Formats: sequence, C-alpha cells, structure tokens
Amino acid sequence: MIALDIKTFIQGLPKAELHVHVEGTLEPEMMFALAARNRIPLDFDSVEALRQAYEFTNLQSFLDIYYAGARVLRKAKDFDDLAWAYLEKAHAQNVRHVEIFFDPQTHTTRGISFGTVMTGLCRALARARETLGLSAHLIMCFLRHLSPGDALQTLLQAQPYRKHITAVGLDSSEAGYPPKLFTDVFARAREGGFLTVAHAGEEGPPDYIRQALALLKVARTDHGVRCLEDEALVRDLRRKQVPLTVCPLSNVKLKVFESLARHNVKALIDSDLCVTINSDDPAYFGGYINENFLAICKAFGLTHQDLQRLSQNAFRAAFIGKDLRQHYLNELDRYARRYI
Ligand code: ADE
Ligand code: ZN
Repeated sequence: MIALDIKTFIQGLPKAELHVHVEGTLEPEMMFALAARNRIPLDFDSVEALRQAYEFTNLQSFLDIYYAGARVLRKAKDFDDLAWAYLEKAHAQNVRHVEIFFDPQTHTTRGISFGTVMTGLCRALARARETLGLSAHLIMCFLRHLSPGDALQTLLQAQPYRKHITAVGLDSSEAGYPPKLFTDVFARAREGGFLTVAHAGEEGPPDYIRQALALLKVARTDHGVRCLEDEALVRDLRRKQVPLTVCPLSNVKLKVFESLARHNVKALIDSDLCVTINSDDPAYFGGYINENFLAICKAFGLTHQDLQRLSQNAFRAAFIGKDLRQHYLNELDRYARRYI
C-alpha cells in the first residue's frame, strides 16, 4: 500500500461522470471567443465581468444566465469545440466514462437545427473515444418549462440520431413543472428504446422524485437531494438502489444548501443510498468532478474507502454493458488495492 494524500488520490481515481450539461461547460473565455467568431453581442464587457455575474440566488437566476450564454453556440464546430474542451478536461481528471446532457430546445428555439447540434457533439465524442480512450454517451434533455408537446416534437427530431443518444432526461426550472406532465412523452421515448432519467428533488419536493420513478420510470434521479424529507421514499430508493447523481458545488451555488457544511451528501451516503458525485454545470459553479469530490472530502472528512465507493456507484449506475462495466470496476479495484 502506498499512502496518497486525498487530493492526489482523487486525481488518480478512475471515475464516471453521469451529470454534466454540455452547455454548462461553456467557460467565459470560450463564450467570448465564440461570441467574436459568430458576431454575437454579449451583455458583459470582459471575462472578469461575466464571471462576477455568477452569483446566483436560486436555480432560475442561474438558468437565465446559462440560456443567454448558450446564444453564442451557432455552428456544428461551436458544439464540437465546446464538447471537446470538456472531454479533454474530464480525461485530464481521470474520468473514464461520461454521459453528457444536452438541451436541444435551447438551440432549436433559436433557429439552430437539431442536426447542427448533433453533428458537432458527435464529432467531439467520436474523437474522445478514439484519441482519449474515453467512453462517452449523450443524454437528450427536455426543457420542462416548455410544453410536453414541444418535448414530443424534439423526440421526433431525434429519430434520425437515435443510435447516438442513449437516454432522455428532464431539466430546467423545476418548481411548478412536475414530472407527471411528461408521462406520455417519456413513454414514447421508452417505446423508442431510450433509457430515462430526470432532474427531480433539486428544488422541487420529494413527490417529484416519486413521480419520476413511478411515471417516467427513470433509471436514475438527477440530484434527488430532497428525498431525505420523505422517509418512505428513502427506504424505497435504498431498497432499489436508485442512483442519485448528486452535484455538491452546484447545490451550494444555487442555494439549495447554504454552505457545503450544510449539504446532505454525507447523510445520503450514511443512508446507504447509491450516491454518485458530479459537476452539473462546472463552468458556472467553480469546479469539475475532482473539485466536487475534494470539496465534500474537506467538508465531511470522507475516507479513501468512501471515495472508492462513490466511484464504484457511478460505474454501477452508468449506461454501459456488462463487460465494460466490469473492466472499469476492475481498474478501480486495482487502484484502491494499491493506494488504500
Ligand atoms: N440545466 C442545467 N443545469 C441545471 C440544473 N442544475 N437544474 C435544472 N436544469 C439545469
Ligand atoms: Zn443538472
């Protein structure tokens, strides 16, 4: 056994990221570069001024800035550059497998075609598989502040790209937009062979998590942190080992918890839930996956074994086949045996 300090251990830990929005990886520097390339005016004079605006009071205050930022994305190359920059960072942080959310409606509502988005993203993912050895999938999210009819149109637009999209998800403003509104479109998606996930219990009540499980038949819940308010739900999530894709720095930035010390991730872990650690919108929230791991380690004094467990959970929860899963779990096992 070779003792490693926790930061070095996290850096080398083989990881899977299951909750990252590609539009949320748009760093201010790239936003300015793409704005100049595409001649799009920005509301900020400098990268520094933009960064300073990243003080959010809740989910909606973030989404307003996030959707405005996405306006600089216009051509397939823009989506390629964006996804590629994230994939290189993920690779540098020893992420082995990634499932990337994208929000087609954020772009199609601005007149950018579904095909433009897919061409760019697929190019970057293919290059990452070939040159970085990463496994990488796409999850298409429906914006819940738009209508279920709009979501259905988006599902139909995705048909030609079916083999490039692993699952569908549900994101954007949560309160007031319960999962049950999307029951039919999710049923259609499942009939079409898509797996399903949904953001639920980030700002919304535990009942939204119940709805996502019962009506949308999700394989994982994104965030899900408010489940602890409902004991029966926690029992159910534990018994079924439903993975929760928890995003600690996001939750603090969006004031779901007032500080990291007040975050419930340790309580979720201690409740024997299948917790995974993720970055959500790293360009806006001050850290990628390793910074999220490190932040909770510092806040809660997690052990090397705890971190191994969190990474194991993510590989177990990933939408990959049996052999690849075993390959990653074996690699993680070798790493843990060497350094724990
Ligand atoms: N879209 C991007 N980030 C999100 C989040 N944290 N919650 C809901 N929708 C999102
Ligand atoms: Zn999210």
